[in-house]
Amino acid sequence: MMMMVMWWLTVVAGVASAAVKEYNWEVGYKFWRPDCKEGTVMAINGEFPGPTIRTNAGDIVVVHLTNKLTTEGVVIHWHGIRQYGTPWADGAAGVTQCAISPGETFTYKFTVDKAGTYFYHGHYGMQRSAGLYGSIIVDVAEGEREPLRYDGEFNLLLSDWWHQSIHSQELGLSSNPLRWIGEPQSILINGRGQFNCSLAAHSSKEQMNRCTFEKGDQCAPQILHVEPNKTYRIRIASTTALASLNLAVQGHKLVVVEADGNYVTPFAADDLDVYFGESYSVLLTTNQDPSRNYWISVGVRGRKPNTPPALTLLNYRNVPAADLPSSPPPETPRWNDYDRSKSFSKKILSAMGTPPPPKKSDRRLILLNTQNQIDGFTKWAINNVSLSVPVTPYLGSIKHGLKGAFDPKSPPKNFPADYDITKPPANPNTMPGNGIYTFPMNITVDVILQNANALNPNVSEIHPWHLHGHDFWILGFGEGKFRPGVDEMAFNLKNPPLRNTAVLYPYGWTALRYVTDNPGVWFFHCHIEPHLHMGMGVVFAEGVNRLGKVPPEALGCGLTGKMFMNRNR
Ligand code: C2O
Ligand code: CU
Repeated sequence: MMMMVMWWLTVVAGVASAAVKEYNWEVGYKFWRPDCKEGTVMAINGEFPGPTIRTNAGDIVVVHLTNKLTTEGVVIHWHGIRQYGTPWADGAAGVTQCAISPGETFTYKFTVDKAGTYFYHGHYGMQRSAGLYGSIIVDVAEGEREPLRYDGEFNLLLSDWWHQSIHSQELGLSSNPLRWIGEPQSILINGRGQFNCSLAAHSSKEQMNRCTFEKGDQCAPQILHVEPNKTYRIRIASTTALASLNLAVQGHKLVVVEADGNYVTPFAADDLDVYFGESYSVLLTTNQDPSRNYWISVGVRGRKPNTPPALTLLNYRNVPAADLPSSPPPETPRWNDYDRSKSFSKKILSAMGTPPPPKKSDRRLILLNTQNQIDGFTKWAINNVSLSVPVTPYLGSIKHGLKGAFDPKSPPKNFPADYDITKPPANPNTMPGNGIYTFPMNITVDVILQNANALNPNVSEIHPWHLHGHDFWILGFGEGKFRPGVDEMAFNLKNPPLRNTAVLYPYGWTALRYVTDNPGVWFFHCHIEPHLHMGMGVVFAEGVNRLGKVPPEALGCGLTGKMFMNRNR
């Protein structure tokens, strides 16, 4: 019916038609063997990973999401889709909507504004870790020409997998003392991995025997079948909860051409670092000996790995897919070689034609990332506030001016100048908070992410920060404490990459710039699932008063939200 009306309207208006892609999805648990060991996954219409959404830029996507989980709420976030004009469809529980209750349906409707490689995932509790994710691939608008030339394409959605249930993971993270979730049991490529299987040079015979490449098995890898002397686009996105990854294809160069839905200045690499929340496209030319197969391997970096790399094959036509290469898979670069990681990050520059950032910013936030404690519970905090989103989502409560839904005071815009980022916090105690940063429309905001030492001495972790509702320019990375008035002299204002996710390296800073051009309330947080769960995020708002109607289903939870709904029934 909806489709009919839309179609009729576009015909009558006589404008170039935006196609409408409409889906009915049911989310439920399912027994599955993602890494050859049976567990429960969150599936969509019985599929794990969820169905791929493939559309053209400018299309309208409508997803009627029905919650078939019997005892928990659910939402889905469309990671990388900016949601211009539809902030209520962003799918962040507590920020833009109430979690959808069991048995209920919520309709997401939004425009995919830009070609590129994206994904979607659960954004309530730790449901992303339970397998609630899938790919979104947006081709250039109907009638436009894709600027990249290639003969075929593949899509690799990367994730990490634990045998422990998310409920038990969640409980461990919110216990005192903390029970850490540990390293993942396996890395999955398109939801398939091999628990305890490794063909890496240093693996044991026993591990090798555990590898199953049997076709048809739920955990058997998807093999990439190629023809010689062709160029393929490989889309890669990482929805991992904890693992920083590195992808390599034996014997082949990867030419990086896209990052987070924006074209970049192409550069060739032997392997690709992929952080949580990032997506890339690389071009691979099949110019190697066509009489054998080649390993594709995805290994862990950034944390001391205790997870074997995920493996699959690049299979040249005419070679049986079952022929494993006689040489071992490429070795993942050393996990803590941060210089290598940083030099890779710095190679990513925007392609010609990408809009450059405004020359100056109007506001600056400096956000200190620390690990802290609240009454002995381990938390993460930003400028000493550990985020705990309110029960009534911000979007509706701001729109309708509801009092008492959250703390109206802004969290600190900076941290004390004498804070020593090289040592564990002198006073580790922090406070939970739900205040937000509110900005006027159409101003330029700089955000400096500042890393520091965690609770244990000599530990500082990688944090991948993701912004909803916007792309930002990454103006620079630096070591130690950001020096206002000095470090901005070296900002790249010429061709900084435009992205939605940026890495913050240990003991360093990362500088971002964005324009508040999208009315709504937007989550900005570390994309490590346990870190977000432990409070590592902030919320930005702009222009909410300019919004038309916010769908009532997005608001009616929490006392404040329910009271409002009752009054306006
Ligand atoms: Cu992909 Cu708020 O996250
Ligand atoms: Cu983090």
